Amino acid sequence: MMDNNKKYQSMGFGLGLRKEHYQDVIDSLPVAGSLAENNSRPNVDWFEILTENYLVAGGKPLYFLDKIAEHYPMAMHGVSMNIGNTGALDKDYLKQVKTLKNRINAHWLSDHLCWTGTNGTNAHDLLPLPYTEEAINHVVERISQVQDFLGDRMLIENVSSYVSYKQSEMTEWEFLSEIAHRADCLLLLDINNIYVSAINHEFNPLDYLLSVPKERVQQFHLAGHSDYGDYVIDTHDMPVCDAVWSLYAKAVEHFGDVTFMIERDDNIPPLETLLMELNLAREISEQVKQTGYDAVQIEKKVQKIQSRLAYEFPQNQEMLV
Ligand SMILES: [Fe+2]
Repeated sequence: MMDNNKKYQSMGFGLGLRKEHYQDVIDSLPVAGSLAENNSRPNVDWFEILTENYLVAGGKPLYFLDKIAEHYPMAMHGVSMNIGNTGALDKDYLKQVKTLKNRINAHWLSDHLCWTGTNGTNAHDLLPLPYTEEAINHVVERISQVQDFLGDRMLIENVSSYVSYKQSEMTEWEFLSEIAHRADCLLLLDINNIYVSAINHEFNPLDYLLSVPKERVQQFHLAGHSDYGDYVIDTHDMPVCDAVWSLYAKAVEHFGDVTFMIERDDNIPPLETLLMELNLAREISEQVKQTGYDAVQIEKKVQKIQSRLAYEFPQNQEMLV
């Protein structure tokens, strides 16, 4: 039985735990048996792990994860639940996920509002659903099954999309909100995904952002994308762009304190570089909470960081929008 207090406690500002940074994080942990402080602890409040990277018993990823999870709050983020599929839920996968969640004492787990394959074929992509009443009923039933199995509310994330269905009967934000309400689940709002889909499908991202139920939004994702002019692709290989930072500032104004993290899955920079972006999120959040949304102030903060990132990663500069 889930309690009525819908949201979990906020965890602050986090990053995705990536193998490129394992050693930096491990090196900054307190040394067992030593009373001396380790002053190299990075300024990150929590880590999000990619669930599927840690489902194999033994091996280095799990070894590092166990060590790091002793010292940092964790959340799990999966790509394989296939919540929109019409086949049976993968019970073995769910058992593995639950075991890992207990092992690292993860605060919550999330997966995407999508389908990733059907009839035994894996598309290796997060494919959007048609926004229909039929799809709502289907997905709500499946999220409920997962939550009953876990004994906890899960988070569902909005995906970026590049196609739409003529069968759709409502907007994506109406679809997402209705599912969250009926399944009694929480939301992981990916602000970059909203922006990417807004460009690709020509809607106002604020229409989406401001209509999602506040009491369900547990976490934000931000990420970088690639801009091809007429369309953008959610590549997670770039710094977060100015327009998405601005949208984040609007999100803080509207939703208040929400657990935050930056996704970076390719072209991984040093940890210090991601910490600069994370700090920008903290600064924007503080600014908005103190004085409200102020486009000039936000722009100043973003430009300061973007020029430093451009200096350290000149190959990213020309792709920033
Ligand atoms: Fe995301």
